[in-house]
Amino acid sequence: MKVVSVINYKGGVGKTSLTANLGAELAWRGKRVLLIDLDAQASLTFSFIKPDEWSSNFEASGTIKAWFDAHESGAPMPLSELVHSPERMKQKLRGRGELDVIYSHLGLINVDLELATKLGGANLSQAKKNFIAIHRRLAEGLEVLAEEMDYDIVLIDCPPNFNIVTKTAIIASDYILVPTRPDELSTLGIDYLMRSIRGLIKDYNEYVAVDSVDGDEPIEPAVVGIVFTMIQEYGDRPISAQRNYIARVQRDSELPVFESYIKRNDTLFAGAPEYGVPVVLTAHNNQSHQSVVDGLEAVTTEFATTLGI
Ligand SMILES: Nc1ncnc2c1ncn2[C@@H]1O[C@H](COP(=O)(O)OP(=O)(O)OP(=O)(O)O)[C@@H](O)[C@H]1O
Ligand SMILES: [Mg+2]
Repeated sequence: MKVVSVINYKGGVGKTSLTANLGAELAWRGKRVLLIDLDAQASLTFSFIKPDEWSSNFEASGTIKAWFDAHESGAPMPLSELVHSPERMKQKLRGRGELDVIYSHLGLINVDLELATKLGGANLSQAKKNFIAIHRRLAEGLEVLAEEMDYDIVLIDCPPNFNIVTKTAIIASDYILVPTRPDELSTLGIDYLMRSIRGLIKDYNEYVAVDSVDGDEPIEPAVVGIVFTMIQEYGDRPISAQRNYIARVQRDSELPVFESYIKRNDTLFAGAPEYGVPVVLTAHNNQSHQSVVDGLEAVTTEFATTLGI
């Protein structure tokens, strides 16, 4: 079971759309996929189920917030209790692969605040123990999950921040995937993000080396790459401003950059043509729809090849 965080500080770069489409396409190709919505905005959640279904069936005790809360109240529950298969996707997949989701909750933002109060301690040694325990929370949950269920891959949709919940995702991850729009600000954000991630990993590994408890190993998540999103094409390739931009990032960034990219299409992404089904699996009958699907399929292939799944 490989765990991948889809992350970028910057809001609105296409993290959630990439997570949903990658997960759906991998499931279509026969993989067993779990998506975890770790963003209090819950956009991933609401791309698979409607708000009224969420309110009646999940809000009270069926989201990732309930899992963090249960831990805080001293009665932890396994993540497997929160796994659900959205109905529309089940119909679409007709038994090919599997797409499960752990839904989010708008109150997840409070979990961040509560966890922050648990950091620190009476002395340095206690503070380091608390740091490890809190940051390893999701990693531990996923280790238990891996014993119970046989997912090929877990994709975590992170919020556009670097709060503690986001950090638990990084600590739990084997890989990091960074979607970005092709503009200056988004890429500046990537350098900053990578510095923050490296800083977190360094701190964590130092603490683990000093205060090693059973099972706490140093971590080293690998960056799968940068994926460009919302690319505008002219003819069969990105418009020239974006092409130059992509070339510059390929040249200057130390991170791998995906060859394939996600094309911009406001109509398709704003309201997916079939509710609860990501664009990549929707039936298409025109050239531009087909072209967006081709791009999403190519990104999935590149991703799967890099991970060897
Ligand atoms: N390829 C695309 N073409 C056009 N619109 C897109 C594309 N991908 C995403 N969008 C739209 O852009 C907006 C932001 O996308 P998305 O929610 O995936 O980004 P995000 O990085 O997860 O945002 P946030 O930081 O708020 O979590 C959404 O309205 C989405 O429908
Ligand atoms: Mg999002």
